[in-house]
Amino acid sequence: MELNEVLRFADEKVFSKTGKHLDDLQETILKEVCQGRKYAKIAQDCDRSEGYVRVAAYELWKILSDVFEEDVSRVNVKAILERAKFYTNFSPTTIGSENVTVNNHVNFCQRKVRSPSSPQNPQQTPTQPHIDLGDAPEIFTFFDRTSELSTLENWITQEHTRLIALLGISGIGKTTLSLSLIDRIKTQFDYVIYRSLRFSPTLDATLTNLLQIFSQQSEIPQSIETKISQILDYLRKYRCLIVLDDVQMLWGSGQLAGQYKTGYEDYQLFFKLIAEVCHQSCLILNSWEKPREIARLSKDNHPVRCFVLGSLGVAAKEILNSQKLSDQETWETLIDIYQGNPLWLEFTATLIQELFGGRVAEFLQCEMPILDEGLQSQLSQPFGRLTAAELAVMVHLANQPEPVAVSQIFNKIPFSPSEIVNAVRSLGNRFLLDTQEQEQITLFSLNSVVKQYVKTQT
Ligand SMILES: Nc1ncnc2c1ncn2[C@@H]1O[C@H](COP(=O)(O)OP(=O)(O)O)[C@@H](O)[C@H]1O
Ligand SMILES: [Mg+2]
Repeated sequence: MELNEVLRFADEKVFSKTGKHLDDLQETILKEVCQGRKYAKIAQDCDRSEGYVRVAAYELWKILSDVFEEDVSRVNVKAILERAKFYTNFSPTTIGSENVTVNNHVNFCQRKVRSPSSPQNPQQTPTQPHIDLGDAPEIFTFFDRTSELSTLENWITQEHTRLIALLGISGIGKTTLSLSLIDRIKTQFDYVIYRSLRFSPTLDATLTNLLQIFSQQSEIPQSIETKISQILDYLRKYRCLIVLDDVQMLWGSGQLAGQYKTGYEDYQLFFKLIAEVCHQSCLILNSWEKPREIARLSKDNHPVRCFVLGSLGVAAKEILNSQKLSDQETWETLIDIYQGNPLWLEFTATLIQELFGGRVAEFLQCEMPILDEGLQSQLSQPFGRLTAAELAVMVHLANQPEPVAVSQIFNKIPFSPSEIVNAVRSLGNRFLLDTQEQEQITLFSLNSVVKQYVKTQT
């Protein structure tokens, strides 16, 4: 039987069942595998990693298994397609015309997936969510963030966003907000998981850890691509909410923001698959550096969103109240100076309590802003990662009385315009810059705390 005919037949069948045609990579894999080629060779020919092709192939076999209602694999795909085509020619209604899920060409994810290597001992959907928050900090007080919570809830439960980056400078409240979100929507999930990546686990270790939660008795597979595929299986089979915190630990220092450390690059593929592959779960990534791929993925119309967390606003008064500070009429000034950052305010409130008897007005008499040691140590984390060009931009901005455009930095520091532009963008991705538009020009500046920090360091 002509190979092209078989491929066309497979594509038609997939389309009639799912409303989606095979994409270029799937077609290539199918064609090459039918000609007896190995994954490594296919990867080489289409300029992808072998792992990427293996995962894509695994997904393809799963789709075909669903369509042809047989366990399809690399070994038998050709025979199954040829046989199905042969029978279809004689009896067009025999194969795969039921359960068509086409609706205006939208591909609906199906809850149940038949697969040759779907997880062993598949469990029934639990009636109670399985909650594993690992070493998440306990939240004792939580103020406001009402609109942030409802936006995130809406993205997850109404819009079925698969990947969310929850971003913002250290101390702004990402961990606290994500745990509060979990508490708010946990009953809508089968699995709710929180893990911090603060000790920079490899993808392999993270996947093993997640699989241990899902398949308590089963053996964890060795190969990373099988691990990824199994996780995707679970995300399809169950409605899972997974928060990975401290994702910035996957990125290195001395390079522009969001560049993976050596040995951590495969996280990028994993996040991409979470965004691209059909499933009914949501992965939230908390980070004080913006992941580069997020912008790209959201542009491609994938269900991916970015949420940049800002000031806690007047609700931060509750933090000052809980620390028993006085001079309430001055609290908003204090909150403004410390950018409504809950952690910066907590440090400062303790300082005011210890040295000024809790009197905010007296503290504000000092030349502002005073940077508590703990606050400085928080800022030292992103600063320790800056490239030479980023550092030069920061020092330049710290000495400007007014916000400046990027072009105004050219020739002021010994870096080329390209280096400066990339440095400014990277600093933005580390949430160290304030941006404003004025008469169609974008202006950059440092907030008073960051400015003061740069001055004390140089
Ligand atoms: N909405 C909030 N209400 C009360 N305290 C908060 C709130 N958000 C953050 N905090 C406090 O601020 C500190 C930093 O918050 P955290 O969530 O750890 O920040 P991040 O994860 O962004 O670094 C914590 O001590 C936390 O208790
Ligand atoms: Mg945190």
